[in-house]
Amino acid sequence: MATSNESLTRQLREQERLHHLLSSILNRFLTTKTVDFNMRVDQSLAELGRYFAVDRVYVFDYDFANQVCHNTFEWCAKGVTPEMDNLQGVPIDVLPEWVDTHMSGATMYIPRVSDLSERSAVRAILEPQSIQSLLAVPMMQGKTCHGFVGFDSVVSERTYTTYEQHALQDFSNALLGAVERHRIEAEREEAQRILAEREKELIDYQEGLVRTLLRLSALRNNETGNHIERVQDLSTLFATILFEHQYPSVSPHFIEGIRLAAPLHDIGKISIPDSILLKSKELSDQEWGSIRDHVRVGGEVLKDLQTQFPENYLIQMAYHIALYHHEHWDGTGYSEGLKGEEIPLEARIVTIIDVYDALRTVRPYKPAFTHEEAITAMHNMEGAFDPTLFDLFLLHQEEMEAMFDQTFKAH
Ligand SMILES: [Fe+2]
Ligand SMILES: [Fe+2]
Repeated sequence: MATSNESLTRQLREQERLHHLLSSILNRFLTTKTVDFNMRVDQSLAELGRYFAVDRVYVFDYDFANQVCHNTFEWCAKGVTPEMDNLQGVPIDVLPEWVDTHMSGATMYIPRVSDLSERSAVRAILEPQSIQSLLAVPMMQGKTCHGFVGFDSVVSERTYTTYEQHALQDFSNALLGAVERHRIEAEREEAQRILAEREKELIDYQEGLVRTLLRLSALRNNETGNHIERVQDLSTLFATILFEHQYPSVSPHFIEGIRLAAPLHDIGKISIPDSILLKSKELSDQEWGSIRDHVRVGGEVLKDLQTQFPENYLIQMAYHIALYHHEHWDGTGYSEGLKGEEIPLEARIVTIIDVYDALRTVRPYKPAFTHEEAITAMHNMEGAFDPTLFDLFLLHQEEMEAMFDQTFKAH
């Protein structure tokens, strides 16, 4: 009686140990990152191999469409030759009874290979590999078999209790679930990677386009060229500050858009003759008219591009900035006399920056102002600016001044 009790206790302890091992393996799959998944499966097979004291543990996938199976994971005990490389694209019609067993959801259990009939196809395959005992547990998803987890004993025979077989059946099904989840996750990550690559290509392309347009407009004169770069740096800084203040619709995407689009604001100046653009004397009304016309010209150039790429956020922004950066909040600007929030946000931002930079630098018609003089002048033309944006500009004016100095000195 005592002996039977002891044996029962031992049996229960073994079952508990196996249950604990299998659930800890499965738990770890839940937190495994995609990149570590294969390593985790290998590690799990090794743990199972050691627990059952077998010589080889492996996973096979059935590819019923092509009537083949592949060995996808393998662990071998020390001194046992790996077979995985030889077991790719193995025809499944060689072992019909094996495959039928798995398709019915049953385990292929061979306690002693030498007990199989001399004519058995399974024996003909297992014996040359010196396999003495084998357990091959199907991986089931509902009633469909997707593959199996196999256990080979080469050095000595190995029997499996009914409890072990059932536990391994549950484990194999759960492993299949984990493999499937991993496959979906890996596909999703790959799709995301391709998408990010495409986006990067698109941005590179857009930047190239912008650079070409910039080179064209910078040909006008050097001061204008540097003005363009400062407007780019200052607008990007200003948009970043707005983002930090959680200003509505300002996102990292918007900041990147403004960084690329703001430098194009004066692209229309390519149409202004040097005789007017560089004139140091007072301009006639007609000449002012031709200066003002740069927003219309810039708008037209970018409108053409926008028609070609209607979905392009960057070109849309550049178009708004080129066309509307001389509009005033109070409706007194040009060329359409838009008011308040009718003026797109990106244009309202560039208006402030453009005015600040123009004031800080020498123009044919005016000297360069200090930062303080520029701020005073901007206060005097307050109706031009979006008041909320202008307040934030003033709040961060030291950063603006520092950025102006830094970009100005760089040239
Ligand atoms: Fe302008
Ligand atoms: Fe400008």
